[in-house]
Amino acid sequence: MNKYGVKILGTGSFMPPKVLTNADLEKMVQTSDEWITTRTGIKERRIADEKTATSDLAIEAAKKALEEAKLKPEDIDMIIVATVTPDMSFPSTACFVQKGLGASRAAAFDLAAACSGFIYGISIAKNFIENGTYKHILLIGAETLSKITDWQDRNTCVLFGDGAGAMVLARTEGPSSLLSVYLGADGNYDKLLILPGGGSRNPVSKETMDNRLHFIKMAGKEVFKVAVTKMAEAAEKALEAAGKTPADLDLIIPHQANLRIIEAIAKRMDYPLEKVYVNLHKYGNVSAATTIVALDEARKEGRVKEGSLLELVAFGGGFTWGAAVIQL
Ligand code: UT7
Repeated sequence: MNKYGVKILGTGSFMPPKVLTNADLEKMVQTSDEWITTRTGIKERRIADEKTATSDLAIEAAKKALEEAKLKPEDIDMIIVATVTPDMSFPSTACFVQKGLGASRAAAFDLAAACSGFIYGISIAKNFIENGTYKHILLIGAETLSKITDWQDRNTCVLFGDGAGAMVLARTEGPSSLLSVYLGADGNYDKLLILPGGGSRNPVSKETMDNRLHFIKMAGKEVFKVAVTKMAEAAEKALEAAGKTPADLDLIIPHQANLRIIEAIAKRMDYPLEKVYVNLHKYGNVSAATTIVALDEARKEGRVKEGSLLELVAFGGGFTWGAAVIQL
C-alpha cells in the first residue's frame, strides 16, 4: 500500500512561434503537401530559432505549469527533463531549467527514453511522491528536434518539430491520480531509430560530420509496425493494471508521430477515434514533449476535466514504450 497519492496540480506548454508548413518543406526537399498529409497527417510544425535551446522552451512551459499549480519555484523538490535534445551532454538540461526558474531546492536530472521519456518520467515521479521522499516534482518533456534533423533527408525532415510541456505533480493524502504506469524497452531495435554520432561510440569528427551521423536516422516502415504493436500492448497492459477497460476511458492521448499509427492503434483496441486526442497536424512529432503538450491542450480545450479518466501512451527510439492511466 502506498503511503501517499499523487495529484496533478498544473500543466503548461510552450511552442516556439516560428511555423514551418508543408509548403515551406516543398521548397527545401523533394516532397509535397499531399504526400506528407496522406502519409502522416502533419500539416505544419514549430521550429526554434538559432539561439533557442531546449531549456529555453522547457522554462517557459514550466512557468505556466507552476502558475497553474500556484507554486513558487522554491517549492519544487525535483526537476526531471525528458529529452533527446539536451542543451549539452552536461550540465543536464534540468540543471539549466533549475537555474532559469530559481528552483533552488530542487534536485535535477535528465531522462533519456526518446519519445517515451515523459511516460518514464511519470513513473519516476509517481514513485518518489508515493513513497514519501518528495512533495512536489516538476516533470518536463522538451525538445528541439530541428537541431538534430537532417534537412536534406525527406524521409525524416518532414516529421519532427520543437516544443515543450510541463507538469507539476504533488503529494496528496487522498487517492492517487496516477492509477498505473507500464513501461517497456527492447534494445535489439537500436539501429532502426538512432542518432549515431556525437556520443562515446562515434565521437564528433570530420568523418561523423561528413557521414551526417549527427542527424536522426530512421527506418520508418519498420518503426511504424513495432510502434503500432507496442503502443496497443502498452495501452492494454496499463489499463489492466489500473483495473479499467478501454470503454472506461474519456480520452486516449497517444504519441503524435503519425495519424496512421494512431488510427491503427484505435482499431486494434476497438476504440472510437473521436475519443483519441490528435494535434500532430499542428506540431508533428515532438518526441518526449508530445504527450504532455497534448495533455495540456486537451485540458485547456476542456476535452478532459477534473475526474476524467485518460491514458497516455508513447513509443520511441531504443525502442522504448509506455502507458499511464490517469484520473484527473
Ligand atoms: O517517434 C518515434 C516513432 N516514429 C514513428 O513512429 C515513425 C514511424 N514511421 C512513419 O511514420 C512512416 O513510416 C513514415 C511517415 C516515416 C513513412 O511512411 P511510409 O508509408 O512508411 O513510406 P515509406 O518509407 O515506405 O516510403 C514510401 C515512398 C518511398 O519511395 P519509393 O521508394 O517507394 O519510391 C520514399 O522514398 O515515399 C517516399 N518518401 C517521400 N516522398 C515524398 C519518403 N519520404 C517522402 C517525402 N515526400 N517526405
